[in-house]
Amino acid sequence: MRASRGHYNLTVPGSILYLQKYRCVNFKRRKTMEKMFELLKQDHREVSQMITELKKLSGQKREKLFQKLSDALQDHMTLEEDSLYPALEDIDETKDLIEDAYEEHKTVQKQLKELDKIPFGDKKWDSTLNSMEEKIEHHVQEEESKLFKIAPKVLSTEELEDLNDQIVSEKERKAA
Ligand SMILES: [Fe+2]
Ligand SMILES: [Fe+2]
Repeated sequence: MRASRGHYNLTVPGSILYLQKYRCVNFKRRKTMEKMFELLKQDHREVSQMITELKKLSGQKREKLFQKLSDALQDHMTLEEDSLYPALEDIDETKDLIEDAYEEHKTVQKQLKELDKIPFGDKKWDSTLNSMEEKIEHHVQEEESKLFKIAPKVLSTEELEDLNDQIVSEKERKAA
């Protein structure tokens, strides 16, 4: 007796129907990941551009852009700490990376506070900004080359979709 389509689909890996279903799930996973990681990476690029620009400015312009940078960094770190990090902090493959990431966020927060206290024209302000830039570059490199690559492998499609919804809706709320 011939197996029903459903039965055939579920039990014969390699069949056309099985492969179509598999590809469809994979496509969905890929699309979900692309969107949220694209948004987070976009934040990384914007922060990097702001720091580059900040170095060329002085006086009120510097003060204004620093406030913008500080807000962007706080928003980005809060978003990651409210969504991506909790989803990954108890998973063997990612827990050490997340532990480091929280620490790196703390360092950036500390440096932002320092920059807020030091006079904008002071040399110490420039050296603190340079140091924060280095820390951020390292952190971004770890996220983009490790964390964002491992996350889709250790999270389910549902978890990825939930994360994506959280990140996209928070971004839309901020933009409104
Ligand atoms: Fe981060
Ligand atoms: Fe990040």
